[in-house]
Amino acid sequence: MFEVSERLKNLPPYLFAEIDRKKKKLISEGHDIIDFGIGDPDLPTPENIVEAMKKGVGNASYHRYPIGKGMADFRKAISEYYRENCQVEIDPDSEVCVLIGSKEGIAHFPWAFLNRGDITLVPEPCYPVYHIGTRLSEGTPFFMPLKSEKGFLPDLGSIPSGAAEKARIMYLNYPNNPTAAFATRDFLMEAISFCKKHGIILAYDAAYSEIYFEEKPVSFLSLPGAKDVGIEFNSLSKPFNMTGWRAGWACGNASLVAGLAKIKENIDSGTFEAVQFSGVEALRNGRKSTEEMRKIYRSRRDLLVEGLRKAGFDAQAPGGAFYLWLKVGGSSIDFADDLLGRGKIVVTPGVGFGPSGEGFIRFSLTIGEERIKEAIGRINKLRGKN
Ligand SMILES: Cc1ncc(COP(=O)(O)O)c(C=O)c1O
Repeated sequence: MFEVSERLKNLPPYLFAEIDRKKKKLISEGHDIIDFGIGDPDLPTPENIVEAMKKGVGNASYHRYPIGKGMADFRKAISEYYRENCQVEIDPDSEVCVLIGSKEGIAHFPWAFLNRGDITLVPEPCYPVYHIGTRLSEGTPFFMPLKSEKGFLPDLGSIPSGAAEKARIMYLNYPNNPTAAFATRDFLMEAISFCKKHGIILAYDAAYSEIYFEEKPVSFLSLPGAKDVGIEFNSLSKPFNMTGWRAGWACGNASLVAGLAKIKENIDSGTFEAVQFSGVEALRNGRKSTEEMRKIYRSRRDLLVEGLRKAGFDAQAPGGAFYLWLKVGGSSIDFADDLLGRGKIVVTPGVGFGPSGEGFIRFSLTIGEERIKEAIGRINKLRGKN
């Protein structure tokens, strides 16, 4: 038995382990579990993208090591996507780096820009990779609570000046996982000027930028000054149901992109070029499928919100990000545990994303309508309603 490093030992415990264990046990006992836990699209990758992959796999030139920051054509398609969707000019040569999924880039980014003891400003509740990436590169996260009364936007005015002075990176993520909140233009402008004032890098996680149901989210990079301080992480995963393919990108400030690319050059050898070739197809010809997907999620959302309201919950309809963040009060672990034990329904306890997530649970809208109806029936039964 070998001992792991202090670095690994210092990572926080996995809070969902107990729920995972119970879920597996119930499944092995033959129970019918309805799983709202996993934020992973259930629908297949659109056919035209799968066909592009088949063609790509047959191209022997894609069988070799991928090229540096990514294939020129894929970087060009990314740049076109930003021009057409966000009215932003991104130079495909100096302002884009292809990633093995945005998670990989987010995790490696602090290696390029943090020194030991540097602070990162991390929203909580959050996607855990921001603070874990910080810890793995020997930095210290300073958490910015996201509260419902502030629209789940951090209160930048309450960050102590000492923390702001020592901070090197601020992470933001909208549409947000897990709260499904959207950022306002005013807030993002405030964040850009805060980062400029304190010399902080703004690392913007836009993984859900294409998952919206009514209003399109504000594009971070389209805001004046964003590229002076910022880098955006984005991905093929959610808009094209491609989570398993592992393809994303970072784009924005050229020096930030170059730093990340240099770290990656020393660690990995890039994304399979047949996948990047399929990514070109996705970005150039996949818009219609994403629109269809939005309709499906919107309809699931409406069904779940209505069902939860009828069951007596104060369910707020999310504007995007395929999550529903429900206030349940009390211990979110106990609530999720009870729902699993008696209802055979898996949800994610909010506290697992950070202390400010306590009192909330997260439903992922990545299951079909029949199963959502079945879940609502079970929840009503548990609450003595029909
Ligand atoms: C907020 C957020 N960012 C990034 C990711 C990573 O996505 P990928 O690595 O598939 O691009 C996820 C995945 O669930 C996420 O929820």
